[in-house]
Amino acid sequence: VDLLARRAARLHPSLPQSPPSTNIAFDSGHASPLVLPDLTAEAARALTHFRPETLQYAPRPGLPELRAHIAELMREEGAPATVHQILVTNGAKHAIELACRLLLDEGDSIAVTAPTYFTSIPIFRSFGVHFIEVGQDEHGMLVGELAERLTSLAAKGERLPKFVYNVPDFHNPTSVTMSRERREALLDLAERYDMYIVEDSPYRRIRFEGESVPTIAGLDQHARVLYMGTFSKLMAPGLRVGWVAAAPQLIARMIQLKSDGGSCPLTQRIIVEFLNEGRLPTHVQRVQDTYRSNRDAMAAAITREIPEAAFHVPAGGYYLWLSLPEFVNGDELAAAANLSGVTIIAGSRFYAGGAARRHQIRVAYSHATHDEIDEGVKRLASAYRSLFADAVSGARA
Ligand SMILES: Cc1ncc(COP(=O)(O)O)c(C=O)c1O
Repeated sequence: VDLLARRAARLHPSLPQSPPSTNIAFDSGHASPLVLPDLTAEAARALTHFRPETLQYAPRPGLPELRAHIAELMREEGAPATVHQILVTNGAKHAIELACRLLLDEGDSIAVTAPTYFTSIPIFRSFGVHFIEVGQDEHGMLVGELAERLTSLAAKGERLPKFVYNVPDFHNPTSVTMSRERREALLDLAERYDMYIVEDSPYRRIRFEGESVPTIAGLDQHARVLYMGTFSKLMAPGLRVGWVAAAPQLIARMIQLKSDGGSCPLTQRIIVEFLNEGRLPTHVQRVQDTYRSNRDAMAAAITREIPEAAFHVPAGGYYLWLSLPEFVNGDELAAAANLSGVTIIAGSRFYAGGAARRHQIRVAYSHATHDEIDEGVKRLASAYRSLFADAVSGARA
C-alpha cells in the first residue's frame, strides 16, 4: 500500500461485489435490452468496406465524420461547435476524467450537487479535490447557495472551485432538470469567479414530455462550458463512445492528455453508418416510448407497494429518487433488498462529502421489463417492511 500513488491510496480497497445474477437490477443505468439497436449491417460494412480504417489506429481526436455528426448534434442542442471543438472519448466518464486531468491539481476544489452522479465521485476524489456540495430543489442546483459559498470563500481568501460539475438534464440520481434561470445564473457566477462548468448531459434527449431547456453550453457567451455527451444513452452503452465539446485550446490539450492511442475506430464507424442512414431520430423515439412506459410502471408500483415513498415523477431520464421516511437507513435497505432478489443503490453513495446515513434510494426503471418492475418493487417493499416493521406500521397507522 505504501507504494501506491496518493490518487490510488485515497480510493476504496475492496473489489466491487456483483449482485446475484438472479436479482432484478434496478441499480445501474443499463439500457433496456428491448431497445438495443440492430447494428449488424453497419458492423458488416465497417469490417469490410471500411476495414483499412476500422482495424487501424484512429486519429486521436476521433473519426472526422463522427466529429462532424457530433458537431451537428451540438448545433441541434443550440450550441454550435466546429469539429475543432469536439473530442471523441470512450464514453462520458472518460470525458469527465479528461476534464479532471486538464483542470485539476491536488488540493483544488470543485462544486457538485448533493447528491451527485456517484460514478464521478471516485474519479474526482482520485485527483485530490475538495468538494463544495450544493443543494438542489425542483429547479435544479441551488445557484444562490453556491453564490453565497463563493462569496464567503473569496472573503476569506480561500481557493475557489476550478469548475462546477452538474447534470442539468434529468439529473442522476434525482432526475430533476435545471431551469433556464438557474443555468443563466450559473454562467454569471462562472464568469464572476473565473470557473469552468462541466455540463454532463447523457439523458438530454431521453425526454418523455414537455419542452427542453436550453443547454448551458448554448447559453454560454464566454467559452466557460465543457459539454459532455455520449452515445451510451442514445444508442448503446457497450459501444463506449462519447464526446466532449469545448473551446479549441482546451480540446487541443485534452487530445494530448488522451493516452489511449485514439478511441476505437470500429465502434466509431458503426455509429457513423447508423447516423448516415438517419436512424437516430426513430431510434430515440423508441427509447423514449419504452422508458416512458417503464417510468409509469415503476411509479405506479412504488405508489402501490410503498405509499410513504416520496418522489418526483421525472419527465425523462432513467431513475426514480425515492425519499423514504426518516427512520429508513438506505444502506441497510439496499443490503436487505439485495438478499431479497432486487438490486438498488443506497442514497448515501451519491454524496461526495461522505457516506452519512441517508433515507433515500435510487431505482432505475431503464433496464427491467414491466413484469420485472412489478416483481422487483414487491421484493423491495417486502425487504423494507421486514427491516423497519415497527416503524412502518407506526407510519401507516
Ligand atoms: C450523469 C452521467 N454521466 C455519465 C454517464 C456515463 O456515460 P458513459 O457510458 O458515456 O461513460 C452516466 C451513465 O450512467 C451518467 O448517468
